[in-house]
Amino acid sequence: MSEPHEIKKVVLAYSGGLDTSVILAWLKERYSCEVVAYIADLGQGEELDRARDKAFTIGASEVYVEDLREEFARDYVFPVLRANAVYEDGYLLGSAIGRPLIAARQIEIARRTGADAVAHGATGKGNDQVRFELAYQALNPDITIVTPWREWDLHARTELLAFAAEHGIPIDRTGAAERPYSVDANLVNTTYEGELLEDPAVAAPDGVFSRTRDLLDAADQPESVRIGFRGGDPVSLDGEQRSPAELFAQLNEIASRHGVGRIDMVENRILGIKTRGVYESPAATVLLTAHRAVEAMVLDGEVALLKRELMPRYANLVYRGLWFAPERHMLQAAIDHSQTDVTGEVEVSLYKGNVTVRSRSAERSRYNRGMVTFEQPALFDQHHPEGYIRMTGLRLRATTGAS
Ligand code: ARG
Repeated sequence: MSEPHEIKKVVLAYSGGLDTSVILAWLKERYSCEVVAYIADLGQGEELDRARDKAFTIGASEVYVEDLREEFARDYVFPVLRANAVYEDGYLLGSAIGRPLIAARQIEIARRTGADAVAHGATGKGNDQVRFELAYQALNPDITIVTPWREWDLHARTELLAFAAEHGIPIDRTGAAERPYSVDANLVNTTYEGELLEDPAVAAPDGVFSRTRDLLDAADQPESVRIGFRGGDPVSLDGEQRSPAELFAQLNEIASRHGVGRIDMVENRILGIKTRGVYESPAATVLLTAHRAVEAMVLDGEVALLKRELMPRYANLVYRGLWFAPERHMLQAAIDHSQTDVTGEVEVSLYKGNVTVRSRSAERSRYNRGMVTFEQPALFDQHHPEGYIRMTGLRLRATTGAS
């Protein structure tokens, strides 16, 4: 190991799990510095007071616990939803957008507490290290970044457990963080990868999923939900206004009953490694379908096409941790511009893992019944297509026709 740089105080993104607990103790030992533990509630549904106590027990000098659910939903999740962003046809990017927010708050806490460094517990092969560290750099280029997983020589889980035992770190074997695969949860998704899931040829064992019902146990009756959108963002459920985080929490509950939003996929990580990921994103899956349905009523056809073409670029940027990069802001501005009139309501039916659009309406719809109807030829002169078709056919006739 190289000589450690001088650090006075470091703000660690702390979860209460084994890895970040070991990191907390390790930071103190290796850098002889103060450690501020930062704990964020992004809707992972865990008891955070226990994490607070644990951080103090291990030796944090200060602990910050923040409820970021509303900010996360409003300023991170909704912008991604406006883009209908899906990575590699399956992943709704829930973990990818959690990281920049946590990083931003760490930088802010560092400023407030006079810390000169930040640290995270993401491992050296994964995406999250890239996301944390790109965000840190974008928000404070002068901050020192400590990356325990790339610095220490604890590699196997058994070594971490031994370190924990030596340092009197309490080990919670029942907590979500101690399952035989890596789990990350927030309002948008629960993700599972690694260990038991590493062989993509082997089906995920029963009991991996923790958030949605198995299709066999899913409700036997379909359930309809009306989702209201304003300016591209979901604002109500069945006509009742909901704050962004409340809406997510309630819709997660409804969609979970119907086993909606599971996916098992192989994806390309930022660093070029392929990985098998298992995801549950109940509410986000419903919202994606519903949002597309209002957009279909409102967006100009060419705008919709362009937006669809830009989507994979946008999803890639978000996946790659470029949330605070200029190109993400540029694309976001274009996407947000398209959403001005995306105000309306969609009724979806949830049943055995499916989300089906039943009806949709929009305040400033471009859908014109008079145009499309068979009953009223007056609004659309059916002689006009003749010219269009002849003009478009001109070059086709030229290339295949007789001389
Ligand atoms: N593969 C997903 C991503 O890159 C999920 C990562 C979840 N993180 C974790 N530490 N388990 O965003």
